[in-house]
Amino acid sequence: MSLVPMSDILEKANKGGYAVGGFNMNNLEALQAIIEAAEEENSPVIVQASEGAIRYIDMEYAVAMAKAAGEKASVPVALHLDHGSNFEKTIQCIRNGFSSVMIDGSKLPFEENIDVTNKVIEAAHAVGVSVEAELGKIGGTEDDHTVEDKAATMTDPDEAVEFIEKTDVDALAIAIGTAHGVYKGDPELDFDRLKTINEKVDIPLVLHGASGVPNDDIAKAIELGINKINVNTAFQQAFTAKMREVLEDPDVYDPRKICGPARDAMKEKVIEKIRLFGSNDKA
Ligand code: 13P
Repeated sequence: MSLVPMSDILEKANKGGYAVGGFNMNNLEALQAIIEAAEEENSPVIVQASEGAIRYIDMEYAVAMAKAAGEKASVPVALHLDHGSNFEKTIQCIRNGFSSVMIDGSKLPFEENIDVTNKVIEAAHAVGVSVEAELGKIGGTEDDHTVEDKAATMTDPDEAVEFIEKTDVDALAIAIGTAHGVYKGDPELDFDRLKTINEKVDIPLVLHGASGVPNDDIAKAIELGINKINVNTAFQQAFTAKMREVLEDPDVYDPRKICGPARDAMKEKVIEKIRLFGSNDKA
């Protein structure tokens, strides 16, 4: 199957009351882990790449790898830009073959966030590419994207309504207390805020910063309307922990003997998340 727009996957999740993983690809092994897990679990999947990952892998390699994965896979696969920082970056991804992009205008004033989101939507929708936007500021760090604790702000439910009325966005990332990267304390999710937003808007809602959030909280967030859940850190940790373990043996030098087991460890984590999100057997 060729890559599908993310909206195809998320509309079904929205109707079915489950969530689909937005899983970050940082190298070939990560992509393989995500696709193998999704196939084994018969789950649709959103493979996403940050701007940092695209720089690391190279745009053409990243798209070629994901396209090959999508074509070989028996499950729907979307290729999504995670946290596109401006109009130009999203267009470069669309031009190169991404089936979905995020325009993160959350650092901008409200009206400017709407304007840049609409600009991206106009171009993206013209060629069947779906768009995720962000409202409120999600804390933490992912690659070169950092929001300090004091700058993080929760999503205002009334602003979410206005944002969706004024844009034709396919999915909205909201800030309800999660953060990217490793948590300093225990994450505290504002479920009342999520419930209110979900009662007021009917498009798929996205939870970023899901690594380190307890499983019960994830389950509750899905129950209250989250349809896409982003995971990056937990997979990186699983991958690297296995590498460290393998490297304890000083005789190991073949990269395949290091990266192969790391890929398998990440795949197990992906399977765990797919089951937790309820997207297994939904392909
Ligand atoms: P984590 O850092 O919690 O895995 O979050 C990833 C994410 O939200 C990507 O956008």
